[in-house]
Amino acid sequence: EKITLSIIKADVGSIAGHHMPHPDQLAAATKILAEAKQKDIIIDFYVTHVGDDIQLIMTHRKGVDHPDIHGLAWEAFKSATKVARELKLYAAGQDLLSEAFSGNVRGMGPGVAELEMEEREAEPVITFHADKTEPGAFNMPIYRIFADPFNTAGLVIDPKMHDGFIFEVYDVFEGRSVLMKTPEESYDVLALIGTPGRYIVRRVYRKSDNLLAAVVSVERLNLTAGRYVGKDDPVAIVRAQHGLPAVGEILEPFSFPHLVAGWMRGSHHGPLMPVPMRYAKVTRFDGPPRIIALGWNISRGRLIGPVDLFDDVAFDETRRLAETIAEYMRRHGPFMPHRLGPEEMEYTTLPSVLEKLKDRFVKTEEAKVVKKHSDLLSH
Ligand code: 13P
Ligand code: 13P
Ligand code: MG
Ligand code: MG
Ligand code: MG
Repeated sequence: EKITLSIIKADVGSIAGHHMPHPDQLAAATKILAEAKQKDIIIDFYVTHVGDDIQLIMTHRKGVDHPDIHGLAWEAFKSATKVARELKLYAAGQDLLSEAFSGNVRGMGPGVAELEMEEREAEPVITFHADKTEPGAFNMPIYRIFADPFNTAGLVIDPKMHDGFIFEVYDVFEGRSVLMKTPEESYDVLALIGTPGRYIVRRVYRKSDNLLAAVVSVERLNLTAGRYVGKDDPVAIVRAQHGLPAVGEILEPFSFPHLVAGWMRGSHHGPLMPVPMRYAKVTRFDGPPRIIALGWNISRGRLIGPVDLFDDVAFDETRRLAETIAEYMRRHGPFMPHRLGPEEMEYTTLPSVLEKLKDRFVKTEEAKVVKKHSDLLSH
């Protein structure tokens, strides 16, 4: 019997800016999922948030991309949106790009990561949930978990992992993906995924038996909407142990708070800070970008957990370093590389500024420029 773990998330409004949802929104979403559990549409569920994004974590027997499950998530987000409108919260319904549900939430705004599995004798799983960043933020950690022996000792030590893993890399601009093998093609993988705004590690399979080990949400909201509508704050599912990376190997890359895109107005780079659930809210400059890690065991579809994995003093130094990096990056103000490059600018006035100035750009030799400017200035 196969079980599917589905995480569907959306930002449908937040209290006092892009900070966190109101508890009544979480209650509204919980009510919808509790009713669905009563009716055996889902086996189990958990509702939480990171920053302003509501996370629906569900288990069921319907497989991925099922209209019942996606429809249920849509209904839960609609209900949480209704609360947001009622309370006049900020950006009510932000990520719901369409009024009507048409069978699948993909491309409609919410982020989706779904993993269908044959439950192993023990099925430890970690779910990651981030705010103020984009799906490509997982590229570096996922690479290190599944392809870097300096991170994951099991790649060297465990015979089941020793052959390596297969990466599905998704090109968000072209909507196409490619399967690549590590370690053989590691440098080619890195050549692509070092551009996290375009090439995203979407799935990882164990090479020895093609077991699906990890899934990342790849929806890029702005590309979908064709305009700025906030960030595509991503989620990921990673299975652990028994011939897969250990939980500690999966958490290890997050001890380095790498720079990701998505801070303030979706337009700045900042460090990704691993935090416990109680700090899964964003304040300083609407950030810095944050991630939580929830540990689970799945037992005949029941969600056992979560344990709040970054709620550990072992990550205190990471958080301290993230604060230092945040301080350093902030001092750049509106300058790159704190601000994203022109091709990534979203909430931006850049096109209209350029339009306004188009007749005032002078292109000529130095002497004439100086003359022209002095003429202009003397008027
Ligand atoms: P124990 O189960 O003996 O604590 O150790 C397991 C282990 O090596 C985890 O990395
Ligand atoms: P989200 O609403 O996608 O979290 O981001 C909004 C933002 O960029 C606030 O500064
Ligand atoms: Mg928001
Ligand atoms: Mg968000
Ligand atoms: Mg967002």
